Amino acid sequence: MCGIVGYVGKSQAAPILLDGLAKLEYRGYDSSGIAVFDGDEIQIKKSKGRLKVLSEMTHDGATMPGTLGIGHTRWATHGEPSDVNAHPHFSSDRRIAVVHNGIIENYLKIKNRLIKKGYEFVSETDTEVVAHLLDYYYKKAPDKPLDAIAKVMRRLDGSYALGILFADYPDKVFAVRKDSPLIVGRSKDGNLIASDVPAVLKYTRDVYFIQNEEIVELSEEEILFYNSDCEPIEKESKYIDWDENAAEKGGYEHFMLKEIYEQPKTVRDTFMPRIKDGRVEIEELDMTDDQIREIDRIRIVACGSAYHVGVSVKYIFEGMVRIPVEVDAASEFRYRNPILGEHELVIIISQSGETADSLAALREAKARGCRVLGIVNVVGSSIAREADQVMYTWAGPEIAVATTKAYSAQLIAMYLLAIKFAYVHGRIDDAQMASYINDLQKLPDQIELLLNNKGRLQKFANRYIAAKDVFFIGRGLDYAISMEASLKLKEISYIHSDAYAGGELKHGTISLIEEGKLVGAILTQPDLYKKTMSNIVEVRTRGAFILAVTNEENVEIEKVADYVIYIPQTNPWFANSLAIIPLQLFAYYVAVGKGCDVDKPRNLAKSVTVE
Ligand code: G6P
Repeated sequence: MCGIVGYVGKSQAAPILLDGLAKLEYRGYDSSGIAVFDGDEIQIKKSKGRLKVLSEMTHDGATMPGTLGIGHTRWATHGEPSDVNAHPHFSSDRRIAVVHNGIIENYLKIKNRLIKKGYEFVSETDTEVVAHLLDYYYKKAPDKPLDAIAKVMRRLDGSYALGILFADYPDKVFAVRKDSPLIVGRSKDGNLIASDVPAVLKYTRDVYFIQNEEIVELSEEEILFYNSDCEPIEKESKYIDWDENAAEKGGYEHFMLKEIYEQPKTVRDTFMPRIKDGRVEIEELDMTDDQIREIDRIRIVACGSAYHVGVSVKYIFEGMVRIPVEVDAASEFRYRNPILGEHELVIIISQSGETADSLAALREAKARGCRVLGIVNVVGSSIAREADQVMYTWAGPEIAVATTKAYSAQLIAMYLLAIKFAYVHGRIDDAQMASYINDLQKLPDQIELLLNNKGRLQKFANRYIAAKDVFFIGRGLDYAISMEASLKLKEISYIHSDAYAGGELKHGTISLIEEGKLVGAILTQPDLYKKTMSNIVEVRTRGAFILAVTNEENVEIEKVADYVIYIPQTNPWFANSLAIIPLQLFAYYVAVGKGCDVDKPRNLAKSVTVE
């Protein structure tokens, strides 16, 4: 995820900016840059690659004089990692420089309008529109930079934290945020902005947390805050007593927990840019409606949790679009001489975009003449480059090996695709599409609600740290959820765990059930509720302890289940997005209770680039 820093004070800015960016490296990045006002004009140095490259270019900042500047580590979203796409971005006359963390959803619309007004763009980024738009409003009233910022805010949809320099205001750094983090640090030597606390801890522990649509004007002596109408507001600083390690994780004990908590944002970020005028519009999907209608089979190929996303959305695609979907583990697909039809769409799902088996499967599918769509989180990764088209998940970098937020983002991307296909195939009408969108829109708040229950879940999880085996059961889409719940638990807690289709239990697995064995039962699908209830009764009479995850209305389940988690009301197709949240937390707290290395489980890698 991009990181921004800014400094204005007594010391040379560039080394402080580089140091701050180094403290944000944990957020993940592919390029970096700094802009410094050298007393005359704004100088920018930026480069693709590690921060080391920028440090070498500037001799650790020494070659960039000036006591005021902004810096950025970029995690590519719009446009590949490259020198030109790296931030900061200049206005055409180089009098305004901008760094940005977030996604400007309506950047294309703004870009087109600015091009009509004669603005020239050099990068593929969404950020560059901010620099030009600022220039546009600023030129109308050069004595009012705050007004220009406020006007730009009103025009931008999406999320942003911005650091801004105006060459005409050589003693000030401006900043503003909406839905992307921004803090301000006050120190004796000068004042700082940053995406996150670790970047400023070396200089100060007095930090202001900037709220949505608040504007900051920073000079060496003072820090001024304004609301979106440019009226001054008062803010209180907080004393931060976290150590650097905890600060990197935003105060969370592990990256995994932080990422679990980022899911409402991840879901929103993946969903919102694809909703235009109340309809699903997937701009990056370079297919005409006729081409979509031609598709008569979908094949989803992926590994690990991404494979589970495939299993889950098979039910949704088949149910909603009524075209057959096959799901393959990439490692199997590539060696089994698959039979691929002429009108088949192959979808490769991958967080990293580098998983060796998924990449090989992509090449196999292309070699056989199939159209390949990548659902990828890392921009510019191998799968993103080689797929015919890419639909990005906007989860930001994921650090914990066990995926949580990328899995959630993949689900959302696939729901949107299913809705789009169902509409084009004539399976749903406008009203149905609107109803799905309405349900999806509620997911972030509903996930938030589920996250608020973590205390209760932690107590429950602590009872199972000595468990030897845990089983998860469900039918249909609930079976797919069970698979991911089971994988989460085993990969981080090392407890043996398996998922079974409820109806399959009696064909063998039930012999493993004995007194006190924990069985997680997922019942989010109304049509299958009674059937799974029967399976619960079967295992309960053999002594199993039942953890049930089900819909709010199913209160009678308390008669047979020992511990129940209710998920808020949503369309059953989207229930996975809610049901998985408490199950991730359960896995997490069992692993923490056992003292496992949650973020780096033994023998596992985040990105598996070997077969
Ligand atoms: C590894 C990770 C999993 C991930 C899988 C696929 O096994 O530990 O969390 O689901 O790879 O990775 P991808 O990057 O292709 O989604």
